[in-house]
Amino acid sequence: MAVSNKWQARINESIGPVLLDSQTILNRVRELGTRITQDYRGKTPHLVAILKGASIFHADLVRSIELELSYDFIAVGSYGKLTKSSGEVRILKDLDESLEGKDVVLVEDIVDTGLTLHYLVQNLKARDPKSLKIVALLNKPARREIDVTVDYVGFDIPDEFVVGYGLDCDQSYRNLPDVRILRLGK
Ligand code: IMP
Ligand code: MG
Repeated sequence: MAVSNKWQARINESIGPVLLDSQTILNRVRELGTRITQDYRGKTPHLVAILKGASIFHADLVRSIELELSYDFIAVGSYGKLTKSSGEVRILKDLDESLEGKDVVLVEDIVDTGLTLHYLVQNLKARDPKSLKIVALLNKPARREIDVTVDYVGFDIPDEFVVGYGLDCDQSYRNLPDVRILRLGK
């Protein structure tokens, strides 16, 4: 069997239905880019992507923003093999640049319990940005454990574990172009 067929077979076996197809995602990302362009006119926003999950969203989003901008990356402790948040967040790779005086837009793939963002917002605010807003592609409001203000949301989704478009399960499936529901326990 060809390698690509094996991969396809694995997807068919363990991955459930498409929740958001790639065109729907891209259309929404462009809308978010347009809103950020309007809201930051006259400014130079600094878009900080939270690795690794937000990398693909970030790459599409920055190309939908018609302004001069800069960006950086931060990596925080991930779920590993689990699909539940531990509430413990560790910085695995810190930003390259200072945030002082910058209009920071934190780019996240998905807000689930909110614990990761809550921690990061405290941490980044202490670095004296001029402003700090959050954009998240996906939001699971039903799972929230701590209040966080997400300024721009792509899609509110039901309480399902999803993969694709940067989101993983144990580091796999990030490269799927659509967001799909994982069949847990398979
Ligand atoms: P929170 O701290 O519970 O809000 O979790 C946020 C992080 O958990 C996200 O940045 C993702 O990396 C991960 N996560 C939460 N839900 C999912 C999901 O449905 N699929 C994949 N990763 C998820
Ligand atoms: Mg993440």
